[in-house]
Amino acid sequence: MIYKFYQQHIFPHLLNQVMQTPSLMDQRRQLLLPIAGDVLEIGFGTGVNLPFYQNVETLYALESNADLYQLAAKRIHESAIHVQHIQAYAEKLPFADASLDHIVSTWTLCSIENLAQALIEMYRVLKPNGTLHLVEHVQYQDNAKLQHLQNLLTPIQKRLADGCHLNRNIEQALRDAHFDFTEQHYFAAQGIPKLAQRMFFARAQKRAE
Ligand SMILES: C[S@@+](CC[C@H](N)C(=O)[O-])C[C@H]1O[C@@H](n2cnc3c(N)ncnc32)[C@H](O)[C@@H]1O
Repeated sequence: MIYKFYQQHIFPHLLNQVMQTPSLMDQRRQLLLPIAGDVLEIGFGTGVNLPFYQNVETLYALESNADLYQLAAKRIHESAIHVQHIQAYAEKLPFADASLDHIVSTWTLCSIENLAQALIEMYRVLKPNGTLHLVEHVQYQDNAKLQHLQNLLTPIQKRLADGCHLNRNIEQALRDAHFDFTEQHYFAAQGIPKLAQRMFFARAQKRAE
């Protein structure tokens, strides 16, 4: 009962605040400004990305959590973009094969329960030259102590932050799902706790097979 209250009435507001940390807003700008056309955003959340889409016509805003989506109402109202809410999970995308030019994920791949299945779906719906644009917090690869702590604390983090894993190797998950990178780098985000500070910024396309 208390946990349900936390999830419905406290967590959405906490998330909305944390996701507006200035260093993350800078990354959103860098990731999203070059995108033009129609976009599927996986895990639209409270709509923090909206102001950074400058040349987007239709945004398919995939968000299954109604408590988060309702906090996006003002941003949607103020945006010139046509926003179409898709109430679905990334593990089963309601789009045809090879139908999309762009998919965006910002700090969402950490939370998807079945990441491998979601990446199969993203691969399926992207056009051959389509691009998956992402920025995500990830597992440390060069620091065994921090990696151990990320593993240790992920069960608690999942409870506190709606399924979020601290310990995912997103680069490897994408490679395993047959994506190649056209751009990629790691960085440490300022203003974020150490255990979620290591970030992966990338653009990926379907491997030519
Ligand atoms: C940390 S929030 C990030 C929200 C937003 N992308 C942002 O940048 O502010 C994680 C998001 O992933 C979404 N999510 C969790 N599981 C999902 C799933 N299986 N399919 C699609 N979205 C999911 C949550 O509802 C939430 O919107």
